[in-house]
Amino acid sequence: MSTGNMRVGLIGLGTVCEFVHYPGFSRIPGVEIAGLCEVDEDLLARRQTQWGVAAGFTDVDRFLDAVRPDAVAVAVPNVYHRDIVLKTVAAGCHVLCEKPIGMTVAETVDMYESARDAGVRHMTAFTYRFVPGMRYLKHLVDDGQLGEIRHARFQRLQDWGEHSVGWRQYRRMAATGELGDMGIHRIDFAEDLLGPIRSVCASIKQVVPRDRTEDGRPCEPQDVEDWVAWIAEFESGTTGVFEMGKLTKGHGPAGDHDLCELNGSEGSAAYRLHTPFAIQAGPRREKYRRRSVPKRFLALPGSPRDPKEGDPAQTFRFDQAWEFVRAIREGRDCVPSFYHGMRAQVVAEAILEAAASRRWVDVPA
Ligand SMILES: NC(=O)c1ccc[n+]([C@@H]2O[C@H](COP(=O)([O-])OP(=O)(O)OC[C@H]3O[C@@H](n4cnc5c(N)ncnc54)[C@H](O)[C@@H]3O)[C@@H](O)[C@H]2O)c1
Repeated sequence: MSTGNMRVGLIGLGTVCEFVHYPGFSRIPGVEIAGLCEVDEDLLARRQTQWGVAAGFTDVDRFLDAVRPDAVAVAVPNVYHRDIVLKTVAAGCHVLCEKPIGMTVAETVDMYESARDAGVRHMTAFTYRFVPGMRYLKHLVDDGQLGEIRHARFQRLQDWGEHSVGWRQYRRMAATGELGDMGIHRIDFAEDLLGPIRSVCASIKQVVPRDRTEDGRPCEPQDVEDWVAWIAEFESGTTGVFEMGKLTKGHGPAGDHDLCELNGSEGSAAYRLHTPFAIQAGPRREKYRRRSVPKRFLALPGSPRDPKEGDPAQTFRFDQAWEFVRAIREGRDCVPSFYHGMRAQVVAEAILEAAASRRWVDVPA
């Protein structure tokens, strides 16, 4: 594996870059944060000072031309993902892009094929694959310890309040609401655990207008959903029940309810994001008991992250950057790649079609 210096650029310096990408990349030996790109000049200047990065740009073309990074992380609103990714790929950069990678399936196909054909490494930021409890759950499934998974449930319930949530609440910027924000992660890890989804029926709901900012000023109302639910039939015969909502009082803005529970012929197991070091395991004829996640699942092999550092419900996210860098150094595909980002979008569009037509919709293979 090559451990030579890798020059990484960060594009879009908002929330997820601050809490996930910067801390993820900046701790990896041999990785240099070579340049920053952000349209908000004040934010750009703040981050340059905070992170000690001299090269800062407000324009992606100028940033790519001047910095010539080996790899980039793209963390801008969804509507800009495709164009920026295509530019970085054309510049020969490996690219990690936030989810959902595109606004439509057609966009994601374009992104996947462009990156693949350019021979660069590409990764979708399906961060929850790196939760220790989730990695252990996958091991239990793959190892057959739960037997045949008969049914499963996936829930992400949060309370973001009833005010505006910025660009996320507009179709033209985000494509969808809760489906693309929280749902798309669950599509991805459900298929990672249980294989392809064959068919879905669904319901989506916009509950409140979100026509005021947090400090009470009027704003354009939202036109996307706050809540989404669907039932999925998997090719394996498993049935999954999914529910996600941003207005579920009692759960708070950080969303302490993130559940994935699998019921198999030999036992059940449940992951909860907020107890990342333990799962609930219930073998046949026994009630659920807490089971610690074995040490080897607490961080990716070789990760520069200390699993005990900080809030473990947050810091697992740093392993995403490590997977990206490690795949580039090892000359192999990233997991999850743009292929997985494209696949999740295919399922998401089937969910939207099912909700709109109020019927079961088959998911294209
Ligand atoms: N994987 C996860 O768990 C996770 C978590 C949060 C957000 N996200 C995704 O990350 C992306 C960003 O979300 P966020 O919460 O950080 O949003 P944000 O609004 O906090 O930050 C986005 C930043 O991008 C900047 N920007 C907009 N257009 C740009 C351009 N053309 N060039 C450079 N910068 C530009 C904005 O000024 C802003 O600072 C979204 O796609 C979102 O879905 C993923």
